[in-house]
Amino acid sequence: MTQKAIYPGTFDPFTNGHLDVLERALNIFEEVVVVIAENSQKNTLFSVDEREGMIREVVRDFQGVGVEVLHDGLLADYARQQGARAIVRGVRQVKDFEYEFQMSLLNRHLYPEVTTVFLMPNVKYTYVASSIIREVAMLGGDVSKFVHPSVLEMLHRKLDESQQKKK
Ligand code: PNS
Repeated sequence: MTQKAIYPGTFDPFTNGHLDVLERALNIFEEVVVVIAENSQKNTLFSVDEREGMIREVVRDFQGVGVEVLHDGLLADYARQQGARAIVRGVRQVKDFEYEFQMSLLNRHLYPEVTTVFLMPNVKYTYVASSIIREVAMLGGDVSKFVHPSVLEMLHRKLDESQQKKK
């Protein structure tokens, strides 16, 4: 019986789609650790510390959820070290699948005992991706339906900062 799963991602920012997947994972696993990949290859809006604080706030009242940062190294090694045999990933559309399929098989190659579990979020989040939320928010659009109020506040602060810089 697999009791502990990890839910990795960049989470820049953490959206209601991510939250939906996390809640579904908690219906299956006793413990789910959200693993924020620092991922130096991606130019993120939020620092890894900001993302960690953001997710901790969103899951503050949840039972069985951990929040950790993968600063470097492979996710498969991290999963092995943590004794996690399941990796949770959300899939919204068929186009997500190619990349997810590749990652899942590579992770299995690196750590044969690990299984990637794909979960579909509620259909209302099908078109919600961090990249588009970031873009819309930073152009002043309303994303309040797609992120937790505390994440919305952080996005507003980033927008204010970027507007101040332009002055
Ligand atoms: O939210 P994302 O950006 O789609 O998440 C991608 C993530 C963080 C899960 C992936 O890039 C990852 O696992 N990074 C850690 C480094 C690693 O193990 N890379 C090889 C994956 S097969």
